[in-house]
Amino acid sequence: MRIGVLLSRVRVEEKLLLAELERHGAGYTLLDDRELVFDLNAGTYAFDVILERSIHHSRALYALKAFNDRDVPTVNTYHVARICGDKVLTTQALIKHDVPTPRTRMAFTAESALAAIEELGYPAVLKPAIGSWGRLIAKVNDREAAEALLEHKEILGSYHHSIFYIQEYVKKPNGRDIRSFVVGDTCICAIYRTSGHWITNTARGGAASNCPVTPELAQISVAAAQAVGGGVLAVDVFETDDGQLLVNEVNYTMEFRNSIDTTGVNIPALVIEYVLAVGHGAIVPHNGRWTMSDD
Ligand SMILES: Nc1ncnc2c1ncn2[C@@H]1O[C@H](COP(=O)(O)OP(=O)(O)O)[C@@H](O)[C@H]1O
Ligand SMILES: [Mg+2]
Repeated sequence: MRIGVLLSRVRVEEKLLLAELERHGAGYTLLDDRELVFDLNAGTYAFDVILERSIHHSRALYALKAFNDRDVPTVNTYHVARICGDKVLTTQALIKHDVPTPRTRMAFTAESALAAIEELGYPAVLKPAIGSWGRLIAKVNDREAAEALLEHKEILGSYHHSIFYIQEYVKKPNGRDIRSFVVGDTCICAIYRTSGHWITNTARGGAASNCPVTPELAQISVAAAQAVGGGVLAVDVFETDDGQLLVNEVNYTMEFRNSIDTTGVNIPALVIEYVLAVGHGAIVPHNGRWTMSDD
């Protein structure tokens, strides 16, 4: 089998994934996104499957598109990366598939964004549509802070900040949220991320501990993964005061270094099994097409 691994740097996750490929005796080619040139006119790619591990959303997105357009299977697909890389599209996919998610508003000007925040009530959360690791997300506690933040975004913000993504603030009981891991149609494990800060990303100091995969958590996690197109995904889940689960977002190039010992689940082994199944043609998403009709 011809396996390509698209990456930017070999981090802990990539080391573990490559070791699993080697354990299976599977040869692979490293595709460094700093060196690749895609011949968009005539390029063909002699791979049975590509595992995407780039740290750059834009590079991952365009590379996946090039591969999928030539019918090269990828984990994950371009379609999934496009949705998961954009919080507006993710929220819309979740809502379309009846996956519970926090109340969210989209607005295009500072004035309409302020009206949306006032309607949702304080505190509200503003996020860039494209971003990760908890960067540039803001909890807005009152109108004065909202006005200042919106003015800053409007005047100093880049293109991505001109779309206002506004969410109700979910009071996370016990100062934690859940990160669940989905491979195919299985929720393989989950962690709690606990922090004194309202932003719980482990990249921002959130502490990981094992979270039991209850039937409810498995159901909502797999539903969220399917809603964005399915594959190998990490799902951010909030618990609410009244014991409900809400899906915050879905991540398509998942990090898992601090979740293996924590959960006792060999995440890279399960990911590689999935990648090999895709390479063998045993798993084909989207009714046999690598891109979906609206792509
Ligand atoms: N609406 C919200 N209510 C409460 N906490 C939130 C909300 N949105 C995000 N957070 C906190 O901030 C973290 C990062 O937000 P998230 O939407 O996952 O963006 P990122 O892509 O940067 O991870 C979440 O894991 C959660 O702890
Ligand atoms: Mg997140």
